[in-house]
Amino acid sequence: MQSVTRRDFVRNSVAAGAAAATVVAPAAAESVPHEGAIKIVAISCSPRKGKSTATALGVCLQAAKEVSPRIETELVELAGLRIDGNIAAGVPLAQGEPDDFPPLVPNLADPRVRGIILGTPVYFGNMSSLCRAFLERCIVLYQDKFALRNKVAGVVAVGGTRNGGQEVTIQSVQISLFCNEMILVGNGRPSPRHGATVWSGAEGGVLKDEIGLTTVKALGRRVAEVALLVAGGH
Ligand SMILES: Cc1cc2nc3c(=O)[nH]c(=O)nc-3n(C[C@H](O)[C@H](O)[C@H](O)COP(=O)(O)O)c2cc1C
Repeated sequence: MQSVTRRDFVRNSVAAGAAAATVVAPAAAESVPHEGAIKIVAISCSPRKGKSTATALGVCLQAAKEVSPRIETELVELAGLRIDGNIAAGVPLAQGEPDDFPPLVPNLADPRVRGIILGTPVYFGNMSSLCRAFLERCIVLYQDKFALRNKVAGVVAVGGTRNGGQEVTIQSVQISLFCNEMILVGNGRPSPRHGATVWSGAEGGVLKDEIGLTTVKALGRRVAEVALLVAGGH
């Protein structure tokens, strides 16, 4: 694969943006799929819909989108979905119990999805049970010819305290993603670390956590940058 410096990457991104502007009218740009488009999906594993994990992921996706007009994004919230990890081990659900995991599979396996950003609240220094169950159920993708293989992955952890276990939570999620042969990235510059570490306890919530938002935006850019490299094309 051709090596691309950050300067080349930024220059090419700007050039791609300028080229796109000549063929797509600004008003139509949102609705017309860009040639060579790739998709980055963020999955919020908080049981609480629209709360701090989802908010942080929204910021992360926006930063990813700003890297290139080729990038489309989607936020999937698992809140309210019934995802039972026991099925991964072959233990069936009781009759009539719903299973909301199978409808998620086509999106995850879609070859156009080149990046997946997993966000979880920190619960007792680790991921939420919803996140754990989701990762366990991803065994079907592993068994289906490693359908997550070579997709770029990043992790966002949101805790109620500044140093509440975000980093160890990120590592815990990353181990499962490594098992699926995903390409793990941390947050890139200005301060490269394992992933995005967010504090929801700031007055005004995650959007007031400037340090955390720096990591969130850097992660979004990094996932986008590597996803574009892996996807190749123009
Ligand atoms: C069972 C439980 C355990 C928690 N443990 C931690 C913890 O270890 N560290 C931390 O910083 N916050 C902890 N929290 C706080 C949550 O991580 C925090 O409220 C987070 O913002 C929740 O994400 P959400 O707003 O997307 O639901 C815990 C919350 C719950 C419910």
